[in-house]
Amino acid sequence: MKKMKRREFLGDTAKASLSATALAAGLTTAAAAASPRQRPAAGDRIRVALIGAGDQGKADLGAFLRLPEIDCPAVCDVDEKRLAEGVKRVSEARGKAPDGYKDFRRIFDRKDVDAVIVGTPDHWHALATVLACQAGKDVYVEKPLATTIEEGRAMIAAARKHNRVVQVGTQQRSSRHFQAARDFVKSGQLGKIRMTRAWAYLDWKGSLGHPADGPAPAGVDYDLWLGPAPARPFNPMRFHHNFRWFWDYSGGLATDWGAHMIDVVMWVMGEDPVGAMAIGGKYGFPDDIRETPDTQQSVIEFPSFSLVWEHMIGCGVGPWQREHGCEFHGENGILVVDRGGWEVHSETDQLKQPDRVFRMLPKPRQAGSGDFHFEHVRNFVESMKTRRPPTADVEIGHKSVLACHLGNIAVRLKRYVTWDPKTEKVVGDPEAQALVGRTYRSPWVLPK
Ligand SMILES: NC(=O)c1ccc[n+]([C@@H]2O[C@H](COP(=O)([O-])OP(=O)(O)OC[C@H]3O[C@@H](n4cnc5c(N)ncnc54)[C@H](O)[C@@H]3O)[C@@H](O)[C@H]2O)c1
Repeated sequence: MKKMKRREFLGDTAKASLSATALAAGLTTAAAAASPRQRPAAGDRIRVALIGAGDQGKADLGAFLRLPEIDCPAVCDVDEKRLAEGVKRVSEARGKAPDGYKDFRRIFDRKDVDAVIVGTPDHWHALATVLACQAGKDVYVEKPLATTIEEGRAMIAAARKHNRVVQVGTQQRSSRHFQAARDFVKSGQLGKIRMTRAWAYLDWKGSLGHPADGPAPAGVDYDLWLGPAPARPFNPMRFHHNFRWFWDYSGGLATDWGAHMIDVVMWVMGEDPVGAMAIGGKYGFPDDIRETPDTQQSVIEFPSFSLVWEHMIGCGVGPWQREHGCEFHGENGILVVDRGGWEVHSETDQLKQPDRVFRMLPKPRQAGSGDFHFEHVRNFVESMKTRRPPTADVEIGHKSVLACHLGNIAVRLKRYVTWDPKTEKVVGDPEAQALVGRTYRSPWVLPK
């Protein structure tokens, strides 16, 4: 574990609230010193801190602050500008500025924080979540849960060991219309589901160009932004938002949107993957700096059905004319669902009939159910009070992103990867198994 530095960036509003003991202590000691209440009692204020005040972190924070019982005593970002934006957001909503931090471990020292939002880039999700659990905090962690399968397993272990509520930001699970679509598939009316499909097409994203490396912007602690990721010079296209397109920090569109849409398929179908193959590459923007495929098709094998994941960057029309979505192809009909709603199309039958007939009636589009991000946050806060598992518990987020990662391992190695869901290991392929985990940059260590 990296030794903490004495010198901390504290925003203008920050109070000198760090005790000398906490500053001098290593994390384990500090975590042990923080002994928050085990659960908020009825009528208690709930104190939530934000780690990573970027686009999504601020959106999450905004949803929390819509709940009247929420206070936000602390905000953290390694970029002073982003930190100031987070502090401002809380000040405007609550009339009181939170303390600002650069190093999230300082938040774990505080006894007046019940939960943290982890809105950092993906390569920080695992460490931030594990350390938060060790410090007795509940966690709302953004999707995709982790950059490797091994990290996800460590996050589950920490949540269970420390009895923490950990919700993953896959908000479709809190959506009434996704729930209705799930119930329709599960009712059996579509017949046996043999094939599923999930996709994302991003026409608003094009070439990233190939900007030169250079100095990190003023006010950014780049070393802390990198954290456990490999050391390399700063590049503006590998930073805010665009980190998604680099293997060191994320898994490309296959985990960025796959974590949402593949999650829906796994939720409805309830099976664990047993293997994957994939094809993809930089077919659209071969010369830009992006590492992850701009075009990809992964075929993920489950015991009783197959899942085709597909994505294209720079194009916006996917299957069924949708830029994102999921399809459940049964023997009687096909259900298609996205964030805007769902509908059912009929399958045909010529085997038993002289003419092609429809096997079931189609169902017209059912409208989407709006504000499910807020519902997802509310579900997490309810779980904090009841200590019942949240809608998208850490293990759920793990299994969904695991399927995405298998597709990515296959696309990187250009071969079929056989997976044992019981041991969570690749079968007979050490090179593929090596991609199930990753080496953290010293001195960062992922507690197992
Ligand atoms: N649920 C959703 O629908 C949804 C939507 C968008 C993004 N996301 C997820 O949210 C996360 C953030 O995405 P984004 O687009 O907001 O990224 P971003 O780059 O805009 O923001 C990330 C922020 O985290 C900060 N940060 C980096 N390392 C940090 C550290 N060690 N401590 C504190 N702050 C740190 C960065 O400085 C930055 O301000 C990603 O995991 C992404 O997949 C989820």
